[in-house]
Amino acid sequence: MYIKLDRLAPTGFEVLKKYDGPDIPDTEWSGLEYMDWRSGGDTNFAPIASALGEMECAGFWDHGKPDKDGIWTKNAEVCPTLVKWVENVGARYGRVRIIKLNPSTSEEEAARNLHLDDNNRLNPDGEGWVVRTWLQLTDDPDSYMILRDEKDDPATEHRIFMPKYSQFVIDSQRLYHAAYHPGSKPRYALITSFESGPTLERWMESQTAK
Ligand SMILES: [Fe+2]
Repeated sequence: MYIKLDRLAPTGFEVLKKYDGPDIPDTEWSGLEYMDWRSGGDTNFAPIASALGEMECAGFWDHGKPDKDGIWTKNAEVCPTLVKWVENVGARYGRVRIIKLNPSTSEEEAARNLHLDDNNRLNPDGEGWVVRTWLQLTDDPDSYMILRDEKDDPATEHRIFMPKYSQFVIDSQRLYHAAYHPGSKPRYALITSFESGPTLERWMESQTAK
């Protein structure tokens, strides 16, 4: 049994209000070191926190850890506002990274990338369930996250559009997800694993549009 957030129980995701903190210079994502790592499309990832602070995208389980207690990599020095964003949430975080997603060729292709994340491997029983947050960095108002309860059933689908600074939380081990990005340039977003619990809930409440 894990601690889960009641507010995510109905749908497995929540769209928050847009990030309204200090502007994030684009050097904080364009100036990072990216690794070849395919997940959910034609992607590269820039690790900002990893299991041991090394420049790698592998699961924390490779190092015997659950996806918690991430350690900043050298990329963190280049993106102080993003580091502050993560620390401001206050909850235990695991992997922190930027996804760079190249444009999709079609919605069908994007839907083929629908997958579940492996967020809770080695997560000790009784602790908080790991979910993920997204902070959209580029302005891609026509791009959206496809969320489905059942991978092959569009009737179970929800969509989250991704204009600049949109923020959302997804139980991405529960919901199949993939981004459809019809733009002409890569899409960038910050993805962070957080432990469910009162701290994450308080932050979500503070980020709820009133
Ligand atoms: Fe994923």
